[in-house]
Amino acid sequence: MYKKEICHFVIFFFNIVSLRLTAKWQALYLTRNDPYRYTRTINFMEEKVIDEKRQGESLVLEQKLEQKNGNQRKLFIESYGCQMNFSDSEIVASILAEQGYNTTENLEEADLVLINTCSIRDKAEQTVRKRLEKYNAVKKINPKMKVGVLGCMAERLKRKFLEEEKIVDMVVGPDAYKDLPNLLKEVEEGRDAVNVILSKDETYGDISPVRLGGHGVTAFVSITRGCDNMCTFCVVPFTRGRERSRDPKSIINEVNDLVEKGYKEITLLGQNVDSYLWYGGGLKKDYKNASEIQKATATNFAQLLEMTAEAQPGMRIRFSTSNPQDMTEDVLHSMAKYDNICNYIHLPAQSGSTRILKEMNRQYTREEYFELIDRVRKIIPDCAISQDIITGFSTETEADHLDTLSLMNYVKYDFGFMFMYSERPGTPAARKLDDDVPAEIKKRRLIEIVDLQRVHSAYRTQQFVGKTLEVLIEKESHKSNEQWSGRTQHNTVAVFNKEHFKVGDFVMVKIEDCTSASLIGEAIDYSENN
Ligand code: 5AD
Ligand code: SF4
Repeated sequence: MYKKEICHFVIFFFNIVSLRLTAKWQALYLTRNDPYRYTRTINFMEEKVIDEKRQGESLVLEQKLEQKNGNQRKLFIESYGCQMNFSDSEIVASILAEQGYNTTENLEEADLVLINTCSIRDKAEQTVRKRLEKYNAVKKINPKMKVGVLGCMAERLKRKFLEEEKIVDMVVGPDAYKDLPNLLKEVEEGRDAVNVILSKDETYGDISPVRLGGHGVTAFVSITRGCDNMCTFCVVPFTRGRERSRDPKSIINEVNDLVEKGYKEITLLGQNVDSYLWYGGGLKKDYKNASEIQKATATNFAQLLEMTAEAQPGMRIRFSTSNPQDMTEDVLHSMAKYDNICNYIHLPAQSGSTRILKEMNRQYTREEYFELIDRVRKIIPDCAISQDIITGFSTETEADHLDTLSLMNYVKYDFGFMFMYSERPGTPAARKLDDDVPAEIKKRRLIEIVDLQRVHSAYRTQQFVGKTLEVLIEKESHKSNEQWSGRTQHNTVAVFNKEHFKVGDFVMVKIEDCTSASLIGEAIDYSENN
């Protein structure tokens, strides 16, 4: 157990997959398409076991047809944490399909169980530990079953997993998935297998990922790996290494392939997509040493966006996550220029106080954040914006907290992801700063920002009532089997009667009503995009 039991909160706006009240104040919200697919809990009263639908979902191949004929062995793979992890699990399943494994939803019949882990907050790590206990019980019935830990917890806890949690046979870091065939051989020969080496150039650009657990409509395409930002609270630069970008050709090939398979929307994915820079391979930080020709032919994020938008004009394009200091005006102009690039930006603020932003090593001030918001509103007047905010970071005072509330009032975000600060071992903040805001104060501030976000979310959805918007149908509404659920370009969920439409259709929907989280409307006709 780490020092603090954390509790993180969210107001969100789209695809509520699971909502179950298990105690007076407890709710779990999970979203499928948000950039950071963390468990969302509101839990003021007591610690409860939380029913998670999406976090830790066993991921199986989206189209049964993708199951490779002749594959005899069964892979059970579970993912936790951010969308990057879910995307990585697709790469892993693709590599293992070549090794004779097809996915299964049934833990008991698995030959190999993999858990793709997240370290970003203590809570995520605790969940994984509980799952390992469950695997342990199953392994007693099926001793031949092998268990591997993948992802962000691998590097930090490799020794602990292999030595203390004896059920783990294999520990594989985020840059070592191509080594899985060798590691599996080691395991089959009775040895523990570990590879947590972080790479300078691994982007998995040459692996064509299979798609796991979706509806065949939306997909994630990873474009960068790692992060160089070194926000003091964040463990990502340590678990996922330095930032590198993927060859634009392989990105476009993957997008073209998705179109052929019938996908209608992609999200370009990375810890910091606006910092994307392809100059022939290698770390972003080494760009300064690149040759003149490499620099002259380099591709930046705005260019990549335009290439993607032009390659597939019928495909909706999103991207996540944007860091304020890297979001250039070029990107905004590209968004404004192409109709198929969605007018939506996930733009984490983390705090509204310049002093706290400095302590966090975020590379912008409150004023610069406002200037960026003004620029977005000027260039793309109807752009939806969402946030990540952390409450109770080291040294945060009441005045800093009020600055965060006033920043929110300025932006009026469409939705957001809000968390209590969870100190992570080994981060600059853990080494240099005291985690000195008491848990009750963190919680109270969190409640205040969540409440304010709720007001802003309701304000934003209300603006859409009376308008006719294009909605991409993703699936049946979880509330009624007579309704479809889809999203507008602003990433807002809309539900409406099914009529003759089907999953994957772009439909014009007249919005008649709303909640603070979704729009309710009536389908008018197909959109021109169909
Ligand atoms: N504690 C709480 N929240 C964190 N995040 C990242 N690290 C921490 C931490 N140590 C949040 C940030 C980030 C989002 C993905 O998770 O808001 O943008
Ligand atoms: Fe972590 Fe900051 Fe990088 Fe995001 S930008 S992954 S918060 S270090």
